[in-house]
Amino acid sequence: MPKILVTGGLGYIGSHTCVVLQQAGYEVVVVDNLVNSKPEVALQIEKITQQPLAVEVVDICDAHALKGFFEQHSDLDGIIHFAALKAVGESLAQPELYFNNNVGGMLQLLEQSPKQLPIVFSSSCTVYGQSEVLPLQEDFLFQKAESPYGSTKQMCEDILRFTAPKQQRKVIALRYFNPIGAHPTAHIGELPQGVPQNLVPYMTQTAAGKRPKLNVFGATYNTPDGSCIRDYIHVMDVAQAHVKAIERQLSQRQVEPYEAFNIGTGKGHSVLELIHLFEKATGVAVPHAIAAPRVGDVVAAYADTQYAETTLNWKAQYSIEQALQDAWAWEKAAPNE
Ligand code: NAD
Ligand code: WQD
Repeated sequence: MPKILVTGGLGYIGSHTCVVLQQAGYEVVVVDNLVNSKPEVALQIEKITQQPLAVEVVDICDAHALKGFFEQHSDLDGIIHFAALKAVGESLAQPELYFNNNVGGMLQLLEQSPKQLPIVFSSSCTVYGQSEVLPLQEDFLFQKAESPYGSTKQMCEDILRFTAPKQQRKVIALRYFNPIGAHPTAHIGELPQGVPQNLVPYMTQTAAGKRPKLNVFGATYNTPDGSCIRDYIHVMDVAQAHVKAIERQLSQRQVEPYEAFNIGTGKGHSVLELIHLFEKATGVAVPHAIAAPRVGDVVAAYADTQYAETTLNWKAQYSIEQALQDAWAWEKAAPNE
């Protein structure tokens, strides 16, 4: 049974990945400092998989603690690295925090972990910025980052691309588009702190009556209905991509030291479309109004998924309706913050 370290494994995408890894027969050990997650998530994961989950509360920026962790777990076969801060607005207010945690944390991981361990890294479609050409392909050049958060993802990818051959590691960067939804059991999901910044949690909270209305950020963009377009993907599909990446590394099918894959559905949906799809899929209204555009938003982004399909042998399976229904089921089940 291969043993995988999942950093940030109690977070939104990490928790779903722990579930699919355990269900695929992997032994999982989580490292998380709980800065954006709760220890109870481990129990929820165990409830789904009916398997014990090992969790160690460690900050990956803490060299001493991380060194101790790797000494204690000398039998690891791979690393999936989720641990990072991810709030774009917060990163503009506290750039040092984001560079220290996201870049500094990953450098510690590279320093303290045995060099032969392959790494799967959480990257983001944000690395592409605004592109004139769509769908986005993996070999497009990065545009200048709009935020320190986006910059940390570009920097981490660059660091991994240059260090992987030198360290003789295998590294796969997965560039997620817009992960949404929750586990179909509604035992785990996204736990946004305070006012959600992302569309779907704001939408479900509005549908639940926790917020009076959803602001649609801009409706005069050059898109069919004027609102922005994104590639929304079920978090379970994102989780599954990690199993495929680890499988590829452990079965020695990864030849190049560094690979990057788009993890999206390949389909774009506008904000207004998503609201209507949610209302249709759940039968619940989302009061909304057109508001000013949000500074820094790209107009449209969706993935070219060809490379992931042919090389990673991965393709999104869940429909957008299922993702929205699961997001709604989670909203109704989730512990109030
Ligand atoms: P999340 O905040 O829910 O999960 C991140 C986890 O990492 C949390 O449990 C947090 O406590 C932990 N963590 C943060 N800093 C840490 C540190 N220094 N040491 C140990 N643990 C630490 O975020 P998520 O949505 O699950 O995102 C996971 C990864 O995917 C992140 O790297 C994020 O940047 C990336 N990503 C997310 C999205 C998205 O829309 N959710 C899109 C693209 C990429
Ligand atoms: C989606 C669309 C908004 C809220 C962010 C990060 C990105 C990546 C994914 C990690 C946009 C609109 C939103 C609202 C709205 N994360 N919107 N009203 O901006 O595509 O990407 O999450 O890597 O780095 O920037 O996602 O969910 O914030 O917005 O109209 O209240 O919904 O303008 O068009 P985004 P989002």
